[in-house]
Amino acid sequence: MHKVHFERENRTIQVEPGENLRQAAIRNKFSIYPHIYKVLNCRGRGLCTSCTVQIIAGKVEPRNETETEKLAKKPDGFRLACQIAVNDDLIVKTHP
Ligand code: FES
Repeated sequence: MHKVHFERENRTIQVEPGENLRQAAIRNKFSIYPHIYKVLNCRGRGLCTSCTVQIIAGKVEPRNETETEKLAKKPDGFRLACQIAVNDDLIVKTHP
């Protein structure tokens, strides 16, 4: 199991190796979405960018094609939670 700590909310969740970050957050009853996007999001299809998080510490795989397109103007540490697998302990900032 890996630990993902959400810095802003001061909450840590347990994540299975390789588990999708968005799915892990949902399983742990933690919302990564700001405001109205808790309801209005693309449900993990990589379309809305409302699940954008900033990886503060820990390793994640390079951006995939969807992230490369959607986050082109964002710093490297910004990632779509719905597109990344967790394979390390992470410290994450929601809605950066
Ligand atoms: S949930 Fe819409 S881009 Fe991740």
